[in-house]
Amino acid sequence: MLDLLQLSGKQRQFVELLQQQQTVESLRSLCAQAGFDVNFINGFLLSGALNGYVQWQEHTQQTWVLTAKGEELGGVLPGFALAKRLLAGTRDRATLQAELGPDFSLNYGALRREQAVDLVDGEGEGQITVLKSAVLGAYQQRQAAFAAIAAGNGFEEGAESSLEWLQQQGYIASRVESDYSLTVLPALQTLELSDRVTALTSELILSGQWREVDLKPYDIHAEVPDVAYGRPTILTQCIQRIRDIFLNMGFDEMSGYLVESAFWNFDALFTPQDHPAREVQDTFYLANPQTLPLPEDRTLVEQVKQVHEANYGGEWTEAEASRAILRAHTTTSTARRLHQLRGQDGKYFSIDRVFRNETVDRTHLAEFHQIEGVVVGELLSVRTLMGYLTYFYERLGFQNLKFKPTYNPYTEPSLEVFAYHPPSDRYIEVGNSGLFRQEMLEPLGCGDKATVAWGLGLERIAMLLYDVEKLSDLIGPDIRL
Ligand code: PHE
Repeated sequence: MLDLLQLSGKQRQFVELLQQQQTVESLRSLCAQAGFDVNFINGFLLSGALNGYVQWQEHTQQTWVLTAKGEELGGVLPGFALAKRLLAGTRDRATLQAELGPDFSLNYGALRREQAVDLVDGEGEGQITVLKSAVLGAYQQRQAAFAAIAAGNGFEEGAESSLEWLQQQGYIASRVESDYSLTVLPALQTLELSDRVTALTSELILSGQWREVDLKPYDIHAEVPDVAYGRPTILTQCIQRIRDIFLNMGFDEMSGYLVESAFWNFDALFTPQDHPAREVQDTFYLANPQTLPLPEDRTLVEQVKQVHEANYGGEWTEAEASRAILRAHTTTSTARRLHQLRGQDGKYFSIDRVFRNETVDRTHLAEFHQIEGVVVGELLSVRTLMGYLTYFYERLGFQNLKFKPTYNPYTEPSLEVFAYHPPSDRYIEVGNSGLFRQEMLEPLGCGDKATVAWGLGLERIAMLLYDVEKLSDLIGPDIRL
């Protein structure tokens, strides 16, 4: 839809012209007078841009135009010049020939064809005889009509016979033209056109004029077609939200590997080599590669061996620790980070994928995400841990957290975290946490540090936040969610 206030160029000039009129009898002649291309203006009118500002009526009218033959005449009918002189009384052939020059025979031929004149040759004194003076008289009107058509003007009453004659001669042809008469409504007369420039042209830029003109600003609120673009899934949105929370709490994001050695998944976490979690029923072992190299830091490997053998008895083997697995928790990333830190303080989180050889049901998947977190520092306690977790879950809108003591090989004390799920009116386990044991921290080089740490289920949080019944709905192909 054209915005009348923001018109530019010819359309604007035309509107300005209209504002000075009350009625326009013929749009065609207005255009001819003011130098507008009538087809362009017709299109402008018919676009509806002037609706409510102008009323118009279409008229068709028959008009005459010059044919190609008529154009060739150069504006004067053959016969006209001679007829004029004959009517004025000149009959002497030599005189007329001298006056008309090379056009004489053309003129004479034209009149002669109508049998209006004759040439009587007496001894050397040729005289033209007028046979039909009415025909000579008719040339006056014929020429007038012809000139009017050539100029695109209207003609006098009573020109019919001239027009008929001109048409018979093949000088003019009739044409049906549509035209419009307009009534300019007060709405247009009172409209104040803005002086804004709506299009930035190269001219404006080159001349530097753009600095002075009033440029129409971009309307960033203008309605645009709705585009069905892709959106992040619920899970991705959750990850982003949670990432923001931890970043705002001053945590740095850490990452790790999907494929890990049992060493980083279990042994570095003080999990005995015969622990049930290490069974194939719980953990995915890889066929290829079957093993991964142990850390280059031999002291670390030695100390892990020692602490295992001292506490659990039996022989700790590198073979078992080297087995390649899909990591079963993101605490692998935490263990690697602690080893890197070697006693420095810090706060780290990760939101990453883990794998467990579980039977898939409504609330369990073999593949899911954990929100891992660790704080390394001094004077950290169970209260600190509960504080971090309470703060975090509150940011997501979970108010009534509950903590329940539990057991992990690598934390002491250990706490399970439960959040209230209003739709089912019950508490759902959302995570596991604790303070890392000395037996784990020592080999990693953080023996004199206190830590609090957690591993929380991302999908559980998403289920609670979006009222999802089945875990698989979160990751399935159904995009309604
Ligand atoms: N790794 C534990 C799990 O997968 C979570 C956890 C992380 C517990 C850190 C204590 C400390 O359940």
